[in-house]
Amino acid sequence: MIAPATAQVLAMADSEGWRTCVEKTREERSEAGQFFTPSPIARCLAGWFHEKGLNRPSLHLLDPGAGGGALTAAVVDRVTALRVSGKLPLLEEITLEAWELDPAFIPALRNNLSACAAALEKVGVRVKIDLRQGSYIEGAVRALDGGLFGGTEAPSVTHAILNPPYRKIATRSRERQLLNSLGMETSNLYAAFVWLALRQLEDGGELSAIVPRSFCNGPYFRDFRRDLVARSIFHRIHVFDSRTEAFGRDEVLQENILFHLTRQSRKRPMITVSTGSLECPVEVRIPADRFVCPDDPEKVIHIATGSDANEVRDFIQTLPCRIEELGIEVSTGPVVDFRLKSSLSPRLGKQDVPLLYPHTIKAGRVIPPLPDASGYGDARVGKKPVAITVNDETRRWLIPAARFVLIKRFSSKEEKRRLVAGVLDPRDFADGLIGIENHLNFFHRKRAGLSVALAKGLCRFLNSSVADRYFRQFNGHTQVNATDLRAFRYPDAASLEHLGKTKLDDADQTAIDLAMSELFGAPSFA
Ligand SMILES: C[S@@+](CC[C@H](N)C(=O)[O-])C[C@H]1O[C@@H](n2cnc3c(N)ncnc32)[C@H](O)[C@@H]1O
Repeated sequence: MIAPATAQVLAMADSEGWRTCVEKTREERSEAGQFFTPSPIARCLAGWFHEKGLNRPSLHLLDPGAGGGALTAAVVDRVTALRVSGKLPLLEEITLEAWELDPAFIPALRNNLSACAAALEKVGVRVKIDLRQGSYIEGAVRALDGGLFGGTEAPSVTHAILNPPYRKIATRSRERQLLNSLGMETSNLYAAFVWLALRQLEDGGELSAIVPRSFCNGPYFRDFRRDLVARSIFHRIHVFDSRTEAFGRDEVLQENILFHLTRQSRKRPMITVSTGSLECPVEVRIPADRFVCPDDPEKVIHIATGSDANEVRDFIQTLPCRIEELGIEVSTGPVVDFRLKSSLSPRLGKQDVPLLYPHTIKAGRVIPPLPDASGYGDARVGKKPVAITVNDETRRWLIPAARFVLIKRFSSKEEKRRLVAGVLDPRDFADGLIGIENHLNFFHRKRAGLSVALAKGLCRFLNSSVADRYFRQFNGHTQVNATDLRAFRYPDAASLEHLGKTKLDDADQTAIDLAMSELFGAPSFA
């Protein structure tokens, strides 16, 4: 049964009218991280709270960055429906704590919270509305006390539901300083919101959220992940198939996930990961120690979806080597083009050396500029410089060409693969200096090259479907960080050389995958 008042609030969250009633353009809202949760997602997040956890005398619901209150409304809607069907006999009172920074939303939020309160009171539940206009960061740090305000509140929140703002936090900002006072180091507001809400949860309290997937890997979210994994157990995760699925209308381009967790450090054996539509999701269950490997210091979160997810993960995670065990390092291309603009050129002149961008990787190799100095013979390349002048300013950023394996750091949305690698043959570059642009990572041995067989084998391994699928399990964005490549597992050197010596066409994905399966027993995806 749906309570009419809360259904109205939820419908409001879906309506264009509401979006425009606050008289803000899409750009202004995007700047402020104001993307509103559509009602099916709000209902899903609210629906994940355990019925048992809601059946207690007193609930305290936290909605930080509440916007119009759609998430609170979804929880209230569920609670009233459960109550009507006699399922929450113990429930006597609820505190609805909502934080919103933007004064433009406050009147609507106040109205909506009143509608929620009316719905609850109708089913015999007392309500305390705690609407706070201001910064949740400020308020939560004050409540938790970073030693700044003299006094610590015991965590009292029983349920937190979040669609937090997505924005970078400047290094010298007050927000950063406040977070640091609690020992929290993070550069994005969404992680700060989830982190603070988790700290405000009482033991056994539950948290549901929709957030970008970017926290699952990478150095910027390492501290957050470690704390998250140490303090909570995950129950469910939903991954959207496409980037625009969650907030289609609002053109949010990050890949988003929904998750539900409980604050407690006890181990839980299985996590349900789903994908596809919310009405009809495809689910897999994965063991907690595969979700986050207990011995991984990075605490990378692996979100495996699809029927072959476990097979892919098991194959890569049981490979014998980390990259340093192969004596190989991975670094980011040192040439930052906009800093050396005056030394870049569309043609390869006498004082110039080739400058390599991601698009120079084609079918497993790095394409050198054409000898007639007219570029790369590719129309798309025309826009980018192909050369960098050797001078006092640039010399320190250039490297002697050697047999490196280059890999793109960013894939475009249209690209099928995230991992796109190519071998650089130093003979194509007259064994001279080269510039490797910052959108590339490269594998090397103390800046020297690899053997032919090892470079080819490593490149083919990275270009295989199994490696790409594994990578997607823990990396939801289009970036391929050097840290991720260091955390990957690789076959041993002899096996990579064997793969490198195998006769095959590097433009043929099926041939690479077949070799991986014949040589190493990798799962095949034919
Ligand atoms: C992504 S929107 C989500 C709104 C709402 N929770 C929903 O699901 O529809 C994030 C909201 O957080 C608010 N916000 C941004 N920074 C904030 C802060 N420091 N404290 C409290 N709210 C903030 C924004 O104004 C915006 O309304």
